Amino acid sequence: MKTCYRKNEWLIVEDGFNPEMNRESESIFSIGNGYMGQRANFEEHYSGDSLQGTYIAGVYYPDKTRVGWWKNGYPEYFAKVLNAPKWIGIDVTVNGKQLDLATAKIISFKRTLNMKEGWLEKQFSITVSKNKILGFHSRRFLSMSEPDIGVIKYSVRSLNFEGTIELKPYIDADVKNEDANYGIKFWKEVDREAYEGAGIIVSKTLKTDFHVATGMCYNLFKNEKPVSAKPSVINREEYVGNAVKVDLKSGDELVMFKYAAVLSSLNSPKVSLIGDVKKRLKKSVEKGYSKLLLEHRKEWQKIWASSDVEIKGDIAAQQGIRFNIFQLNQTYTGKDERLNIGPKGFTGEKYGGSTYWDTEAFALPFFLKTADQKVARNLLLYRYKHLGASIKNAEKLGFKNGAALYPMVTMNGEECHNEWEITFEEIHRNGAIAFAIFNYIRHTGDNDYMAENGLEVLIGISRFWYQRANWSGDKKKYMILGVTGPNEYENNVNNNWYTNTLAVWTLSYTLESLSRVKKEEPSKYRMIIKKTGFDTDTEKAEWKQVIRKMYFPYDSSRDVFLQQDGFLDKVLMPAEMIPTEQRPINQHWSWDRILRSCFIKQADVLQGLYLFEDKYDTDTLKRNFDFYETMTVHESSLSACIHSIMASRIRNIVKAYELYLRTARLDLDDYNHEVGDGLHITSMAGTWLAIVEGFGGMRIVDSKVQVHPLIPDKWKSYSFHARFRGILFEVKVSHKEVIVRNLSDKQLKIIVYDKEWQVNSHEERSFKKTKK
Ligand code: BGC
Repeated sequence: MKTCYRKNEWLIVEDGFNPEMNRESESIFSIGNGYMGQRANFEEHYSGDSLQGTYIAGVYYPDKTRVGWWKNGYPEYFAKVLNAPKWIGIDVTVNGKQLDLATAKIISFKRTLNMKEGWLEKQFSITVSKNKILGFHSRRFLSMSEPDIGVIKYSVRSLNFEGTIELKPYIDADVKNEDANYGIKFWKEVDREAYEGAGIIVSKTLKTDFHVATGMCYNLFKNEKPVSAKPSVINREEYVGNAVKVDLKSGDELVMFKYAAVLSSLNSPKVSLIGDVKKRLKKSVEKGYSKLLLEHRKEWQKIWASSDVEIKGDIAAQQGIRFNIFQLNQTYTGKDERLNIGPKGFTGEKYGGSTYWDTEAFALPFFLKTADQKVARNLLLYRYKHLGASIKNAEKLGFKNGAALYPMVTMNGEECHNEWEITFEEIHRNGAIAFAIFNYIRHTGDNDYMAENGLEVLIGISRFWYQRANWSGDKKKYMILGVTGPNEYENNVNNNWYTNTLAVWTLSYTLESLSRVKKEEPSKYRMIIKKTGFDTDTEKAEWKQVIRKMYFPYDSSRDVFLQQDGFLDKVLMPAEMIPTEQRPINQHWSWDRILRSCFIKQADVLQGLYLFEDKYDTDTLKRNFDFYETMTVHESSLSACIHSIMASRIRNIVKAYELYLRTARLDLDDYNHEVGDGLHITSMAGTWLAIVEGFGGMRIVDSKVQVHPLIPDKWKSYSFHARFRGILFEVKVSHKEVIVRNLSDKQLKIIVYDKEWQVNSHEERSFKKTKK
């Protein structure tokens, strides 16, 4: 466990230069604003190890699939989030020698991420010849109020140095992805302009033909006065810049404000990209650094006001949860329904920036409870717009009649992942997408969504479940064969309990929703029936059969649900019997051994019990928890959070806390030794859920919000913000009491420890903390 970052409530601080951890720090100190993201690469030239990463939401490349043996139906490509033209670059030359932090004589170095205000700062000082010292400082942010704008304030201060400094702000469009399957470059230059003070490059992606214009301009001051020196303009293929030389004496300070505008053809017509970038740059300079920063900080203030979690008595936990909330909001702002949340957000190339079931299963519940309902609605609309593509996905696999199989991994609705056991077999993702509709409506009360969009999606998914299930003449039950459940450590299994449960639930929920829409919105109902060609009597009757006769693997001797048909044929043993040096097993064991073992990568039966816990009594939850937790190795970042929530649900706070700790600082402490690849953005939502739904016990049941708070011994108190049907409230939990504060103008009805209360607008109520 690495602990090179200082613990602080609102800051992440790296003291001292750690080049061996540069990739990790580049991920940790990433900034983003939902529209674009930037790893913490240096502004200056750096010849050391680094993963360059500038990402623009929605701009991707379909990299040709690489598989050993091509099978019918394989996706043609694996989508890649693109390392886009670099806008942060400012090269520095000191007396004719290029500054390179890998070789410079560094006296001090400090990197700070301010999560409260959303900016990244870097300070360092170096010795140049004859003990002359220069101090450097940069602060940058990707504006939350003007999402296409990035700003850097860069300064050089001479302590006792006399000589010439050259600053070279530039845009570099000669960029590559490290994970390119065939090593090719994904960009081609389309246009380029460079002047004194500014430069723009328009690049396009190969195949997908996204056009991106990246422009920069700057102001330069010496001791607060504009520098009059003429810059030389650099204008060559895929590179534009200006080089300005300034003489410095002891005590002098040079300050550059670099403004960048990044526009893509997703938001601006291709023909006007250059013109639009120029306008955006002009506006940014007119506003200026301070005003842009102020507006940006105000946006962060709003975000924290409705999503902050405060933990007293445990600074590591406090920093961990704020880091997670911060990164989630940097990744997705919910303003554009074409965008989604990649498991690594904008912090690395892994997972291609594509959408996984992680969005519906983990991220959506976070945004539902912390942001305006439009944010979660846009996540649902993203899938609604991909319905046609999902029907095609299903057709490719032989399904018909409008059955929809949503992709396991996608950018535009097409499947774009090429591991068979994940792509074709993890059909449970279809269930997560259906459940998300239910989850959205129960949180927001936005019933209109069902008739407007939800029902069509549910019909498509239900048709898929119906066709995917088959009747077993032997067992006289419906089966769902050949799947991978959330536990990716067993493939091609039959009757994964979680998948079968979700299938039946979706069919029932669709039938119920059909009846409700028919009654409440008859004309919309008729339209949907027509559009989907739904055969009301036959299809309903067929679905009811499957609901009645689905097979669920179950072990009557232990009285637990079985992860899949053959689970008990495995040698069952607790994960603690695996020698420590063989963990994680995915890095030490052969795939053959993993698949045969009883060890579970991530919540599977428990994932299902988490979704449908209200259908089971506490004893059932406990029996299943005790059975599966011991065999779960939690080698997916999405696992421990769900187990932690379930542990809280069965009131085992010690276990809940132990599991919570595994998720809370996963990236900050780099538990899995992979932070260099990027952060685990979607699992961060799981961590938040482990506090709010786990310790806080927040649930929405029968259109009512309830909490049942527990508190870990180590914490003095904690509080969280949450929303329910337009009402923002705060719950503060200490060992003695629970305080509910209603932060909205409406009255809040809330169930605290099983009893309903009313909390008036802008008032608070205190409740005695119960032990259980
Ligand atoms: C998990 C999947 C998840 C993916 C992306 C995998 O390790 O097993 O459930 O969708 O990571 O986060």
